[in-house]
Amino acid sequence: MGLFLKIFIPLLGGLLAFYFYSAPQSFNEEMLRGKRVIVTGASSGIGEQMAYHLARMETHLLLTARTEAKLQKVVERCLELGAASARYISGSMENPSFPEVVVKEAETSWGGLDMLILNHIGYSGFNFFNGNVGQVRKLMETNFISYVAMTTSALPMLKESDGSIVVVSSMAGKAGSPFAASYSATKFALDGFFSSLRHEFIVDKVNVSITLCILGYINTESAVRAVSHVIQGTPAPKEECALEIIKAGALRQRELHYPPWVVSAVVLLRDIAPEFLDSMTRSWYNVENLRRT
Ligand SMILES: NC(=O)c1ccc[n+]([C@@H]2O[C@H](COP(=O)([O-])OP(=O)(O)OC[C@H]3O[C@@H](n4cnc5c(N)ncnc54)[C@H](OP(=O)(O)O)[C@@H]3O)[C@@H](O)[C@H]2O)c1
Ligand SMILES: *[C@@H]1O[C@H](CO)[C@@H](O)[C@H](O)[C@H]1NC(C)=O
Repeated sequence: MGLFLKIFIPLLGGLLAFYFYSAPQSFNEEMLRGKRVIVTGASSGIGEQMAYHLARMETHLLLTARTEAKLQKVVERCLELGAASARYISGSMENPSFPEVVVKEAETSWGGLDMLILNHIGYSGFNFFNGNVGQVRKLMETNFISYVAMTTSALPMLKESDGSIVVVSSMAGKAGSPFAASYSATKFALDGFFSSLRHEFIVDKVNVSITLCILGYINTESAVRAVSHVIQGTPAPKEECALEIIKAGALRQRELHYPPWVVSAVVLLRDIAPEFLDSMTRSWYNVENLRRT
């Protein structure tokens, strides 16, 4: 087993990483200059870092999240970094009418849209499922339905610009992981919906790309706060993660795996050795450090 872990997994991870990274085209920051981009969940974490990268690339930015004070600061920083323009609109994606409001804002200020980056998530805790069905329903609205609603409202503009949709998901949206049942469900839903929609776009000759980003453990404040006492291992840097997401979107890649080795190995093991993956997954957690709520 030790040898298996040491040799087989890195080898497969490497092969898959190579496969996913050998994009036919290479990334160039010019690709994004002057593009009109919406980033959701942009007040902190990976979304905030994406905003800074996009600002350096001289894009027009519309940022959204709930906390106005944080968004104001991020917008200021984006303008300092060189954004062609930057504005924000605050509100909660728990509110079913808010997704359309955000897209309308882009329409009135720009008259079009090139890239829609869907990244926000509602708070879901990290623990045993406590039977609260209402909470699952609410998280489905925030983490999944709002992504569908934003896509629907933005589609006419994206069709016009041959634009891109970038959906930020997680390893928990590819393989079940414990203590995140509702979160995991919302991320699986994204894969189902957007992978299906991608087929339809191709059948219909709609030239709008869909990039699904499968992320491992990233060092954002909220993730570290939620899981560092339970999960061993060093999280990957949010700045690099944010840049890889933007690159994958600009290159119109189907899926991004970041960090590539870990995520690709997990996705592969899910199919060829699911029980092994399950037991390995459980061994990563210090369950004794969880306090049941
Ligand atoms: N960090 C990781 O280890 C990791 C791993 C896998 C996948 N991911 C994915 O990466 C993405 C970003 O995660 P992150 O770690 O950067 O999280 P984060 O720092 O907690 O950021 C979440 C963002 O969503 C916003 N938000 C929260 N509730 C909202 C609501 N009801 N309506 C609208 N916006 C809301 C937050 O701002 P406000 O509070 O101001 O609203 C914040 O801007 C997520 O899709 C997550 O699933 C992260
Ligand atoms: C689709 O859009 C991309 C990005 O604008 C463009 O490079 C590509 O040529 C388009 N493909 C078709 C078939 O129009």
